[in-house]
Amino acid sequence: MPVISFANAKGGAGKTTAALLLATELAHQGHRVVIMDCDPQHWISQWAEISGPVRNLEVISEVSVASLQCHLREMAGQVDFFVIDLAGARDALVTTAVGLSDHVMIPVQGSAMDAKGAAQILDLLNLMKEKANLVISHSVVLTRVTSMVTTKALVAIKGLLAARGVNVLNTPIGERNAFKELFETGGTLHTLDPARVSNLDKGRENAAAFAQEVLRLMPAKVVRSGKLRPAASGRLAA
Ligand SMILES: Nc1ncnc2c1ncn2[C@@H]1O[C@H](COP(=O)(O)OP(=O)(O)O)[C@@H](O)[C@H]1O
Ligand SMILES: [Mg+2]
Repeated sequence: MPVISFANAKGGAGKTTAALLLATELAHQGHRVVIMDCDPQHWISQWAEISGPVRNLEVISEVSVASLQCHLREMAGQVDFFVIDLAGARDALVTTAVGLSDHVMIPVQGSAMDAKGAAQILDLLNLMKEKANLVISHSVVLTRVTSMVTTKALVAIKGLLAARGVNVLNTPIGERNAFKELFETGGTLHTLDPARVSNLDKGRENAAAFAQEVLRLMPAKVVRSGKLRPAASGRLAA
């Protein structure tokens, strides 16, 4: 059961949105997903409150440095994916979560050249590798990408990151109303009303492509086990 965390030491990078898109898309596909809400601002927990039960998805709200590993261990047998949403910080909880992750996704705004928050997470990952011999795979996902962001600018950002040996997902997460709307009305891209939310189909396509690319980053046997597992049961079934 892979643990995928979303980290960027800066707030507003698009972590929570990307984490929710991935978790809800995987749940929609039939995987059993738990989101660990490790942000003291509790955006995901608030989303869960207004959403009500969502099939295959559970949110754990009160997560501390001490409880995170316990939650992961206790739920491991019943969960296909853990998605961890982190605060815009580089504190003990972020460090612990990163250390327990199979993959760290680092959202970076496609339009912002200021990638300092991402660099702090990359430094943390390097430190873990050098001091503890802990190699954690990670990728940058460009977020909030608008049609105003030229292909040239995106290629430049990718080039900068590639020079540091960082994988950048081919699928950027677009700047989309539908993604904002999730936090206003709750639910998922599959429960929003296409008559009320503009370009919902494009948003769904974007989230599905993003989740597909993340799945491809997971070790093959883990992906297979997730797909072969029977439909959700017990407390994860809504
Ligand atoms: N892809 C997106 N499209 C539209 N709005 C977005 C997108 N990603 C983030 N936002 C908006 O930007 C703000 C910060 O995003 P959020 O995901 O909460 O970032 P973080 O968790 O890194 O602080 C929120 O108001 C959110 O609705
Ligand atoms: Mg957040």
